Amino acid sequence: MPYSVFVFRYWFIYYLNFVPLGGRIFFSYILLVDKIAVVDFGSQYAHLIANRLRRLGVYSEIVLPETSSEKLAKYKGLILSGGPNSVYEKGAPTISPRIFSLGIPILGMCYGHQLIVHLLGGKVEPGKTKEYGLAKLSVLKKIGIFEGIRENSQVWMSHGDAVSALPKGFVALGKTEDCKFAAIADLSRKIFAVQFHMEVTHTKEGMKMLGNFLELCRVKREWNMEKFLARKMNEIKNTLQDRKVFLLVSGGVDSTVAYALLSKTLGTDRVYGLFVDTGFLRKDEGKKTAIALKKIGIKNFHVFQAKRKFMQAIRGVTNPEEKRKIIGDLFLQIQAEAARKLKLNPDHWVLGQGTIYPDTIESAGTRHSDKIKTHHNRVPEILELIKRGRLIEPLAELYKDEVRTLGERLGLPKEIVWKHPFPGPGLAVRILCARGEKWPEQSHSAEEDINKLLAPSGIKAKILPIQSVGVQGDSRTYRNPVAVWGEACNFNSLEKISTSLTNRFFTINRVCLLLNPPEIKSIQILPSYLSEKRIKLLQELDDIVMKFIKHHGIERDIWQFPTVLLPIMINGVKRESVVLRPVCSEEAMTANFYKMNAGLLKKLANKLKPKVSAVFYDITNKPPRTIEWE
Ligand code: XMP
Repeated sequence: MPYSVFVFRYWFIYYLNFVPLGGRIFFSYILLVDKIAVVDFGSQYAHLIANRLRRLGVYSEIVLPETSSEKLAKYKGLILSGGPNSVYEKGAPTISPRIFSLGIPILGMCYGHQLIVHLLGGKVEPGKTKEYGLAKLSVLKKIGIFEGIRENSQVWMSHGDAVSALPKGFVALGKTEDCKFAAIADLSRKIFAVQFHMEVTHTKEGMKMLGNFLELCRVKREWNMEKFLARKMNEIKNTLQDRKVFLLVSGGVDSTVAYALLSKTLGTDRVYGLFVDTGFLRKDEGKKTAIALKKIGIKNFHVFQAKRKFMQAIRGVTNPEEKRKIIGDLFLQIQAEAARKLKLNPDHWVLGQGTIYPDTIESAGTRHSDKIKTHHNRVPEILELIKRGRLIEPLAELYKDEVRTLGERLGLPKEIVWKHPFPGPGLAVRILCARGEKWPEQSHSAEEDINKLLAPSGIKAKILPIQSVGVQGDSRTYRNPVAVWGEACNFNSLEKISTSLTNRFFTINRVCLLLNPPEIKSIQILPSYLSEKRIKLLQELDDIVMKFIKHHGIERDIWQFPTVLLPIMINGVKRESVVLRPVCSEEAMTANFYKMNAGLLKKLANKLKPKVSAVFYDITNKPPRTIEWE
């Protein structure tokens, strides 16, 4: 047998047996289509760039700067992202200068802009003024990426360093008041570089500029959901042949869409969807998911009732870490039990997962929720499927918004498709437990100092005798929140106050605005752990909140909206208290508290008032605080 045939055969056998199915499908596709690479230099926006290109109909991938130029040559164009470093710093990320000889168009943004200049012999220095925020770009030459762009165009800047001398062959295409070389190009080599960010919506004509770059790349616009769906269904059928899929459905967007896609492709009998009802779900969550799936013809959906087991396991536990561990372990046991019953022979079964594109990228960093998702799939029966490469991840190429578009295309209702992310342990991490009061050290003097500091703005404060989780450095810490109230509280000034209090007072980790009652005269702890009664109460409160934001059309402005139950009684009213914690975020790495319209907020607080002792609104950003309270 000729050596090349032998090598191919060997490779093919390896490929069939060991490359996970999802990876295999993905691998075949990416060999075929026109695509653009986004080289990630550590920017929080790299995914946003790739996502924007896909919205323009072009398949794009995130790659690391170390990717070889041979591999990069397969792309129709390269975009070098921003990043937190200075190009002249020792150890700053870089890329092989060979990319400039590949003959494909290159676009650098922010750090990418400076790196192009640095590598090609120009000069980058600390800027005289740091530019953050909106700027007016004067377009000097309406060519290349600026074809059809206005002479004065709003752009968004975020940089300290600036280009002070251009490399040979480059000309300036645009400038701002503080940045002489805001946009430059070597037109003959189709290398473009801009100091601003095209990918953010604040850059008004950013999408048009990106579209112009794609034209220069002569890349085919082959990426759309219709094509994806047709191709993916074909691939799933061909790869799985007559095997079945086992999939854990959490009720969240990704796993539900993955389940619907697999069921539509293979027929509902060949996809076993398991939903574990821990009892810590939102009101009627299991029922709602089952109804939605049934409506689109999916029947092989099984709800495993484990409420009682979870309640027994958790009874009397107040320590949050212990609570989380008990829930996680029991979840694994229950899954193992279900998987054993099905006898998942790896020759007949594959494991389905709703992994999405950002989860598969090394440079995306480690995310708490992902770690936990993976952790849930680590029972021996499932590990065996993974070990044998029997894993299918049909959404591994998609971003969240694309998953949502696909979900709608598959006929899933909007309530499922636009659902906010929800943590695995569910409401259990939103019900605080306590044996008694827990004050920080020297709470009295800290409270006095805080009140002195706030007095000029007419705001009063009281530390709450309960602790919630936060992150300090790399570790999780438990500290006390402080409640504030007063005249003329507006969110912008409150945000400053919140940051300054949490920075100054180490024993405080959150600041909450008191919405109801008007002031705090007394506080008492209600010793409590996780009970069915408390879960039911939080489900009711959470349901009021979720219905309210849907009704007022603000659901999609908010990334996630935890409603948290606190076992504290305010001013002697014998009921628990509630904290509202809506946040705006991208992927939960960082989050800002949502600034709800004052009128709406008052309405919402009034709706909750009869059921609780007090209503608080968390006005702390992440970092350094977490989204969940626990
Ligand atoms: P934090 O509270 O760490 O949350 O800012 C970040 C994101 O992770 C979710 N989260 C969890 N998800 N199991 C999960 O599956 C967990 O134990 C867990 N804790 C937090 C949280 O809802 C947010 O989206």
